[in-house]
Amino acid sequence: MRVVLASNNAGKLGELRPLLEPLNLSLVSQGALGIDAAPEEGLTFVENAIAKARHVCRAARLPAIADDSGLVVPQLGGQPGIRSARFAGENATDAQNNAKLVADLKGEDSVPAHFYCALVFLRDATDPAPLVATARWPGRILSHPRGSRGFGYDPHFLIESLGQTAAELDAETKNRLSHRGQATAQLVSLLRGDP
Ligand code: IMP
Repeated sequence: MRVVLASNNAGKLGELRPLLEPLNLSLVSQGALGIDAAPEEGLTFVENAIAKARHVCRAARLPAIADDSGLVVPQLGGQPGIRSARFAGENATDAQNNAKLVADLKGEDSVPAHFYCALVFLRDATDPAPLVATARWPGRILSHPRGSRGFGYDPHFLIESLGQTAAELDAETKNRLSHRGQATAQLVSLLRGDP
């Protein structure tokens, strides 16, 4: 089955592709089909993931898998949340978003947070029963970055049980533990059971 991966974020595409490998799908990225980004107008990750997938289904006339993910810091009222990619402004860099996070936390160290991922599969643009998987990855926000792997907020995200930030993990370990890894494992089993 040919399925569009509804994302243009290189970091996320790089993580999702190997995770979806067991399904033997022919995965084509949204960018490769020249499809523009969907407007993100929902208030939750799940709403935005469905909107992204629907936008791509409509444009490509193919089934689509979309993820919406981000960092949730309860102490900041859930921010950066669905605005994680553009926390410091439209087209903000990871460095700018991280700097705003540390500034908003007033330099406080080891603040509880979690990454959240909603991952959906839509068979077509009018599919009333999408497959929906969600997962969280708990950690703590460090005021000083550590590590050079991963992307986004990874250098500031400490996994307490490992004593390492997400940016210090090798790709395989991050994929096994992360919000996206866990949501993908769920979606894979939902797709396997899908008639
Ligand atoms: P989206 O592309 O609208 O889903 O935005 C996702 C944003 O959330 C990314 O640009 C990152 O800022 C952040 N994010 C999501 N997943 C991760 C992760 O695994 N590590 C670090 N940052 C992440």
